[in-house]
Amino acid sequence: MNVLQLNPESQQPADNQLKTRFWAVGGGKGGVGKSIVSLNLAYWLAKLGHQVILVDADLGGANLHTLLGIKFVNHTLADYLNRKVDSLDKITIDTPVNGLQLICGASDIVGLANPKYTQKMKLMRALQDLQADHLILDLGAGTDYNTLDFFLYCHHKIAVLTPQPTALQNGYGFIKSAIYRAISKAFGRNTRLGPLLKRATDQNSSEPIASMEELAAAFAAVAPEYGEKLQEILAGFHLYLITNMVKTGRDRKAAEIIQTVIKKYLQLPNITLLGNIPYDQQIEECVARMTPAFLTNAKSQSAMEFYSLVNTVIREGHNEITAAAENQTTIPAATT
Ligand SMILES: Nc1ncnc2c1ncn2[C@@H]1O[C@H](COP(=O)(O)OP(=O)(O)OP(=O)(O)O)[C@@H](O)[C@H]1O
Ligand SMILES: [Mg+2]
Repeated sequence: MNVLQLNPESQQPADNQLKTRFWAVGGGKGGVGKSIVSLNLAYWLAKLGHQVILVDADLGGANLHTLLGIKFVNHTLADYLNRKVDSLDKITIDTPVNGLQLICGASDIVGLANPKYTQKMKLMRALQDLQADHLILDLGAGTDYNTLDFFLYCHHKIAVLTPQPTALQNGYGFIKSAIYRAISKAFGRNTRLGPLLKRATDQNSSEPIASMEELAAAFAAVAPEYGEKLQEILAGFHLYLITNMVKTGRDRKAAEIIQTVIKKYLQLPNITLLGNIPYDQQIEECVARMTPAFLTNAKSQSAMEFYSLVNTVIREGHNEITAAAENQTTIPAATT
């Protein structure tokens, strides 16, 4: 596909505010490109006529505004969490891109990296009141509970990986932590299932449960409905994989490899390979110059990849609406 032949401005605008699609961009490891991916995803969605709000949910190291070329921010999530403002609308700022707004995170407020449970719940509820076609949450590095909970909170879960074997292991570890967090939130307090979960997650267990298949069998042995509920959680975990900073043909296989491992050990049936973003010098240069790190160069392979990736995202969002209408369900469900 050649971006030169595409005119984003001429595309149809998004479906008329049917509902907001929630996307989390996580991946565990620092520096793999979660923020760059969030930013360019948001940029291209906005260019295609969608209303997008980008949320810097990296509460420990917010930097999205810098990647957008915005040097000074007056309002951040800290103002909301510290009750200086009473609604997220008041901290949602316009950006140089039409249709793209930003909620800045803040890294300089002590304690904000670990908001209390009530603050987190309040924030999750408030995010649902925002008016947009797509809400994109750029998550911080690591697998702390807050990061995992924001990942689980979003219906569409994007994990960004880089192709090095260690980074892939890390990415797998993040996805594993997220799915086990979802399961333990659903069952952890159950006195019969809790110990089974502990055996599955505790590396030092004397009786380890080594795979999701084994865990599902153990749950079903307690009661068939527990096994069924576990399958429902696995089926509801919509995972999207992006490999970033791809340099070689072999790198392009990374997502497939991790997909195979995830299917085998975590039994997740809904995995979409969103695409491979090449390593692009343009990004490094924009970051160094503190100018917006959008991939706009029509000749660049990475811009083309984003364009095609975003079309999949739009399709998936549309499918979600159709499925939700058919099932009469509300998505996303706050999970904490
Ligand atoms: N496709 C790419 N090509 C070239 N450089 C890239 C690419 N993606 C990201 N980078 C470089 O990697 C750096 C880290 O990217 P980014 O800030 O998006 O990572 P992150 O996963 O959000 O990190 P953190 O966990 O610290 O928030 C960027 O500053 C940029 O220099
Ligand atoms: Mg980041």
